[in-house]
Amino acid sequence: MYARVKLCGGRGTIKKLRAQSCSINQCHVDSTEPKPFENIPGPRSLPVIGTLYKYLPFIGEYNFTKLHINGLLKKKQYGPLVREEIVPGQSVVWVFRPEDIAEIFKAEAGLHPKRRSHLALLKYRKDRSNVYNTGGLLPTNGTEWWRLRREFQKVLSKPRNVVDYLEDTDAVVQEFVQLCSREKPDDFLPLFSRLFLELTCLVAFDVKMRSLSEEEKHPHSRSSRLIEAAFTTNSVILKLDNGPMLWRFFETPLYQKLRKAQNYMEEVALQMVTQKNRDALICRKQSLLKEYLKNEALDIKDIVGMACDMLLAGVDTTTYSTSFALYHLAINPAVQEKLRSEAAALLPDPMSPITTEILRNATYVKAAIKETFRLNPISVGIGRILQTDVVLSGYRVPKGVVYLCL
Ligand code: HEM
Repeated sequence: MYARVKLCGGRGTIKKLRAQSCSINQCHVDSTEPKPFENIPGPRSLPVIGTLYKYLPFIGEYNFTKLHINGLLKKKQYGPLVREEIVPGQSVVWVFRPEDIAEIFKAEAGLHPKRRSHLALLKYRKDRSNVYNTGGLLPTNGTEWWRLRREFQKVLSKPRNVVDYLEDTDAVVQEFVQLCSREKPDDFLPLFSRLFLELTCLVAFDVKMRSLSEEEKHPHSRSSRLIEAAFTTNSVILKLDNGPMLWRFFETPLYQKLRKAQNYMEEVALQMVTQKNRDALICRKQSLLKEYLKNEALDIKDIVGMACDMLLAGVDTTTYSTSFALYHLAINPAVQEKLRSEAAALLPDPMSPITTEILRNATYVKAAIKETFRLNPISVGIGRILQTDVVLSGYRVPKGVVYLCL
């Protein structure tokens, strides 16, 4: 799901791409008779190795760690709809036109979305049926996914949770700001990882990790190892999902990395869940975890899976998005100034607490966050497999194909 990306092209590049995409789109949309799927342009797939040769270091033009560049190159070379067989016989369609993406979402309306990702994670969890019931939310599909998702989102989407944790999260952010002014780091990324791990654990488990403390900065501390485990897992997921998937038959070095990282994450998740279960009566306040433990539709194995999902999904996403936001503010001083003015007006005393009222009125902050997501989305895109045929950019695409909507 999540990709680790480096800073990519700025506004100019994006505008230029939009313009190119519109002119290419028009010719596809005008055609009335859908063209065959095989005619969708894309990189040449060779027998046995598919397009994997294009991802090889030094000789290949694509790179599994630079997904935004892969997308950019494919769009430039082949247009807004690109067909690729990374592995022979398994078609992936890269979708760049918003209208085509809308068609994909319309075609799955009323159905459970079907996705193909985190396959090695699925194997890891299925092999450990003493700990997990399912592969977790990320790789699971169909009614099993909905059983988990329905229960988890009941709590996750409650605005009350934001309000309940405002004071605690504000205190963590204050500590972070003070740390930054003391240390004046050249690189904010490691500190952001600590900040977001702290916030995730606070809201999800009502646990204070003290990730920003001196002791926790030690590479063998719990927070350092958790950050490393999430980073390692996110770094190998795509490589394990694509290619010949030999890890299905024996433990490859990449799968071993994932297993070790997941072992640690699981150890911490188990500690937190069992501890909270024991302390249920003396908990300070509600946490997502406490609500899940009360829910009779979920058992402890579902909850451990969800705790691991949150540890895996909660840190790198927010860390990289915030880093991109700071980068854009740094290169756009006028925007930075406007943001500073809004913050100063809403919070004349920087040490006073953040309230729901302040959050509601921080409209420019919200706009800046949304613009960061638009400029540098940290996910490879939304992946889907449709259960019906659709027509995209004038081509008929059969059901069962993997889509990557960018
Ligand atoms: C900048 C922040 C984030 C971004 C951009 C982001 C993006 C995404 C995307 C694109 C998906 C796939 C959605 C789909 O397939 O339709 C996803 C799924 C998910 N994310 Fe995030 N995410 C972020 C933060 C978080 C955080 C903080 C957590 C938890 C603490 C989290 C937990 C999850 C989970 C559990 C799923 C699987 C949901 C499901 O399959 O039902 N994410 N996220």
